[in-house]
Amino acid sequence: MNDPNTARVSCGALTASDAGRRVELDGWVHRRRDHGGLIFIDVRDRSGITQVIFDPSLGEVFGQAETLRSEDVIRVCGVVRSRPAGTENAKLATGQVEVPAAELEILNRSETPPFVIAAEEEPAEEVRLRYRYLDLRRPRMQRNLTVRHRILKAFRDYFDDHGFLEVETPNLIKSTPEGARDYLVPSRLHRGTFYALPQSPQILKQILMIGGLGRYMQIARCFRDEDSRSDRQPEFTQVDVEMTFVSQDEVLAMMEGSVRYVWEHALGQTIPDPLPRLTYAEAMRRFGSDKPDLRFELELVDVADAFRGGAFGLFAGLAESEANRVIALRWPGGAALSRRDFDAVTELAKTFGAKGLAYVSFAPDGIKGSIARFVDEPLAAQLRERCGAQDGDAILFVGDAKHGASEVAGKLRLEIGERLGLRKPDAFAFCWVLGFPLFERDEETGEITFSHHPFTAPAPGQEALFDSDPLALTAQHYDLVLNGYELGSGSIRNHTAEFQNRVFKRLGLSDEQIEDRFGFFMEALRYGAPPHGGMALGIDRIVMIACGENSLRDVIAFPKNQTARDVMMDAPSSVPDQALNDLGLRIVEPPPA
Ligand code: AMO
Repeated sequence: MNDPNTARVSCGALTASDAGRRVELDGWVHRRRDHGGLIFIDVRDRSGITQVIFDPSLGEVFGQAETLRSEDVIRVCGVVRSRPAGTENAKLATGQVEVPAAELEILNRSETPPFVIAAEEEPAEEVRLRYRYLDLRRPRMQRNLTVRHRILKAFRDYFDDHGFLEVETPNLIKSTPEGARDYLVPSRLHRGTFYALPQSPQILKQILMIGGLGRYMQIARCFRDEDSRSDRQPEFTQVDVEMTFVSQDEVLAMMEGSVRYVWEHALGQTIPDPLPRLTYAEAMRRFGSDKPDLRFELELVDVADAFRGGAFGLFAGLAESEANRVIALRWPGGAALSRRDFDAVTELAKTFGAKGLAYVSFAPDGIKGSIARFVDEPLAAQLRERCGAQDGDAILFVGDAKHGASEVAGKLRLEIGERLGLRKPDAFAFCWVLGFPLFERDEETGEITFSHHPFTAPAPGQEALFDSDPLALTAQHYDLVLNGYELGSGSIRNHTAEFQNRVFKRLGLSDEQIEDRFGFFMEALRYGAPPHGGMALGIDRIVMIACGENSLRDVIAFPKNQTARDVMMDAPSSVPDQALNDLGLRIVEPPPA
């Protein structure tokens, strides 16, 4: 088929203007239909599908075509022609034309695939992951990986345009804490010691700043041994950025610019300029989350004062302390819910950490609900007004210590948004969240720990609080949020060894621990470290949202499953005893069944 008069074309390329061209198509048998004595084969590659027709008059070639099955790999030649009137396929980019085959070469056969690539219905996820190479042939995965490529390219272009150097940092390193467990790699040459895979290139990018690189970016692979969720993978990708001599506002402007550029150039979408900003406190107060989903407006309303001194003892009691919140949340149309519905919502709230849930509803025949008897007319009128509740609505109440109450109400807000379909479809609702606390109390140990990572600088002018009230310190930390997901986070860093040491000490590390874990970094900070700051955006999450997917697994070529396994390669897997011996390792417990 090396005929100079034959053009090799991709399967999605042909249009009516190609009629009369002799072409060669290479691809997979997407679908075969036998009809009216003819064989119709849809040939597929990444670019699309072309309909090829085999006529019995072809003799031997027709005989070969009769043996074709889904996913066989073929090369076909023929002269493109317009489809007869009435047989065009508007759904197909090549739907105006077809190629009557003149020659056929079967390049490879396929076993019967475990699922049909052309089928509309979604195969089970474990099957998709086990046969990922087949799953990757599906248009959805091809589209998602194409979008991913375009997004990565746009980020690279943007940062290149702004004078950033892409520098690769190593994966065999010493632990860099981001609050997860490390993946460890045993050393053969240095028995009994381990490398850690980076949870992020955080320390290394800071050292690049000390190294005078000025503006760094990297499409960086990160590894975190934490429980998988639909928005978390053990191995994921960041667009990692760091800059010297910058203020928080300058980092925000640069990063916001990158996202705006990517949305425009990779997705053809315009996003607001500037992006809205919320403080952490405001985000928790209004939306009960530090990553608020702003695709719908429903907000949390503080009503403790309305219950103060009132008949409902629980809320009246909570209202006595600033440390508590009583939050009202409007449920549009909620008066139509039955008692059982509300019981189910209460159970749900308990799984979010609520002790209970109170509610009233404004039904045509009066106020109903679990605390209706404590809500007299004036109180009802006040609650309705403050929540904007109409006839037919209900109001849920969550009362508890501030943080817990906010979180429960925030989750109920999402639940209501989901059930009522309040989210604007196809919306990209970005916001910055700023002014996070620098430290928080570890719920398990009760000790003070860092909120994000230990390298974040506090906002200026809070010196007095550092020792007296560390939990009140505000960080120069920022998160970028999109549709309720944390897309990225970053901060201005501590750039003097003295201050970094103070933070480590505040976190309870001894001099020995600081030296052992971060000695190299503390030393680097002492050699003229410039002020610096940066950020990392989670690429997988960006692509997931851009593609309208709900799981990172749908935008990563070879993801891990929910139990962190690669089911195609069967990893992790055991290794020969010799490999363990070389590493000086012995397995003391059998692996879990
Ligand atoms: P952080 O830990 O917030 O910050 O990570 C930045 C972004 O990376 C993404 N991300 C993940 N994506 C998929 N799976 C995961 N397991 C996962 N974990 C995080 C999120 C997140 O917002 N070194 C700092 C950044 C900095 O300070 O410059 C860091 O890694 O989108």
